[in-house]
Amino acid sequence: MDLSVKIGGKALPNPVGAASGTIGYGSEYEALVDYRTLGALYTKAITREPREGNPIPRIVETTAGLLNSIGLANVGMERFVTEKWPYLKTLPCPVIGNIAGSDPEEYAEVVSFLEAHTDLWGYEINISCPNVKKGGITIGTDPTTVERLTRTLRDLTTKPLIVKLTPNVTDIAEIARAAEAGGADALSCINTVVGMAIDIRKKRPVIPQKTAGLSGPAIKPIGVAAVYRVRTAVRIPIIGIGGIMEPEDAIEYLLAGATAVQVGTALFVDPRTPSRILKGITSYMAQEGFTSLEDFHRFWPQW
Ligand SMILES: Cc1cc2nc3c(=O)[nH]c(=O)nc-3n(C[C@H](O)[C@H](O)[C@H](O)COP(=O)(O)O)c2cc1C
Repeated sequence: MDLSVKIGGKALPNPVGAASGTIGYGSEYEALVDYRTLGALYTKAITREPREGNPIPRIVETTAGLLNSIGLANVGMERFVTEKWPYLKTLPCPVIGNIAGSDPEEYAEVVSFLEAHTDLWGYEINISCPNVKKGGITIGTDPTTVERLTRTLRDLTTKPLIVKLTPNVTDIAEIARAAEAGGADALSCINTVVGMAIDIRKKRPVIPQKTAGLSGPAIKPIGVAAVYRVRTAVRIPIIGIGGIMEPEDAIEYLLAGATAVQVGTALFVDPRTPSRILKGITSYMAQEGFTSLEDFHRFWPQW
């Protein structure tokens, strides 16, 4: 059975990756995750300078999901290269750098720096973080900016360039088309959904930033609908993300139009989830008589 996934002229060994921000820089999960079975590791966001992130509490559990407002806390590109890359480059799975910034220049500087000092498999451009004041979501909600930013980064690398979309827009298909027009090789779909939890005794939002990003089972139907819509708008591959806990969740995404998936919040419940999901996809494909992931394409919505 062929489980490889083609993106931008390269191939991922299988369709199940670990989502940015939920697996750190890999070493944190060394004893818990079998990296030989992981389709790809998407790193925590990398910015130009180190960032402390937002004040605590910045994670709170809700009924069917997790609210986070980490605010892109990360070591910055220089320490990523000296402290994190030496470990990451030894992993047997593809490692994709998740890139963030406050403005297009910062994104470009980070990609240029990583091009010069690492051999990452590719880049996932996070234009969709709801938890920072500048950049992030403000970049990801304007089609003209998305197209221009994607084109700038396209000129800096021949490696796979994946643009990560936010669901917090009126028309996600419009943003998807802009990223494709700018030269993106694939789209990650979706980042977290804006949400809030209120402490009824203190009578104020639990998280100091007030709103935060919702992930986990609650957002799966939003993610599946987003992938379905985006599938009708672009021809490049889509990586489905949002609330994937079980193999059936991933299969829904693959039938909606995704070529690959990422598992995020589920890693906090059980770090072995990606390999369990891969096994479940494989047995579903065997039951259905599928011989490659392309067999899913027959069920996709038409352009
Ligand atoms: C604690 C936490 C940190 C995250 N950090 C990032 C990040 O740095 N960059 C990014 O693109 N997405 C980040 N995300 C979003 C996830 O990669 C993913 O898109 C989202 O959580 C939805 O998937 P899930 O429901 O499987 O968790 C983060 C999510 C969580 C829960």
